[in-house]
Amino acid sequence: MSAHPASSRPASPGTIGLTGVTGALGGLVARALADDLRHDLRLLARDPARAPDVDTDVRRCDYADAEGARAALRGVRTLLLVSAAESAERRAQHRTMIAAAADAGVEHVVYTSFAGAAPDATFTLGRDHHDAEQAIRESSMAFTLLRDSFYLDALPLFADREGVIRGPAGDGRVGAVARADVADVAAAVLRDPAAHRDTTYTLTGPEALTLAEVAARAGAVLERPLRFVDEPVEAAYAWRREVYGAAPWQLDAWVSTYTAIADGSVSMLTDDVAAVAGHPPRSLEEALAR
Ligand SMILES: NC(=O)c1ccc[n+]([C@@H]2O[C@H](COP(=O)([O-])OP(=O)(O)OC[C@H]3O[C@@H](n4cnc5c(N)ncnc54)[C@H](OP(=O)(O)O)[C@@H]3O)[C@@H](O)[C@H]2O)c1
Repeated sequence: MSAHPASSRPASPGTIGLTGVTGALGGLVARALADDLRHDLRLLARDPARAPDVDTDVRRCDYADAEGARAALRGVRTLLLVSAAESAERRAQHRTMIAAAADAGVEHVVYTSFAGAAPDATFTLGRDHHDAEQAIRESSMAFTLLRDSFYLDALPLFADREGVIRGPAGDGRVGAVARADVADVAAAVLRDPAAHRDTTYTLTGPEALTLAEVAARAGAVLERPLRFVDEPVEAAYAWRREVYGAAPWQLDAWVSTYTAIADGSVSMLTDDVAAVAGHPPRSLEEALAR
């Protein structure tokens, strides 16, 4: 006889489709689920040859290719949709992929959104995430939205060659979350999607840090002196435009990463990582130690 009554067992998630598996987050989720759910996994990658080798079904899937995505998704019941790389086409790619998932019969989509996603979010890419959330809500699919704060382990990468993190963040704070914690939450949701149906989680770390604190503490772990230098918004645009010659949407995204920290829109802290993953969120030091 089973040790657990049938009613306490998670309902089967069916075939789980994972996107983003050639990247950091999706790769962690693929490895976490492969141990015991290998036969239920389908990895979806633009270049299947670069997917992690965890002895699973692998299909080609590009968010921009509706027909290819529909074919790759047929038979998938639960889908992890990792948000697309930053680009001017990102909203359209998300919408194409979401429509393809619904057409292919996907029942539940788990989407990596952004903390405070809204049409007027200070972080301009948070507006793209709101658009994707809307498309998901308007579809026939059940959903779980993982609204991630900025990635804790990515913050030190903001530093230039001289170790300076420069931007208009002032002494604002960010409740940044370890990518590994986002992966743990995603894996828990995918194992038992019915328990997280039509739910939105805001995933943060254990503390809200200023960028000066991030620089000092990350520098100590990485054994590389880092420091934060505040700058006016206009100056932030000017040198980025000059050095990178980037498009306006890209400049807005870069600079608003800092202004979102300055105005408190990413300072929130939640218990959602602990509640879903079953362990406390990792600290900056723990995130960087990996
Ligand atoms: N919260 C934050 O601070 C933060 C920071 C950075 C990024 N993000 C978002 O979080 C996502 C996951 O983070 P990550 O660190 O795992 O990023 P990552 O290592 O760059 O991986 C992104 C993954 O998404 C795939 N992908 C991107 N655009 C795609 C498209 N149009 N069609 C199909 N696949 C596509 C990539 O495939 P390829 O290998 O083919 O490129 C890759 O597997 C990112 O894609 C981005 O949207 C959030």
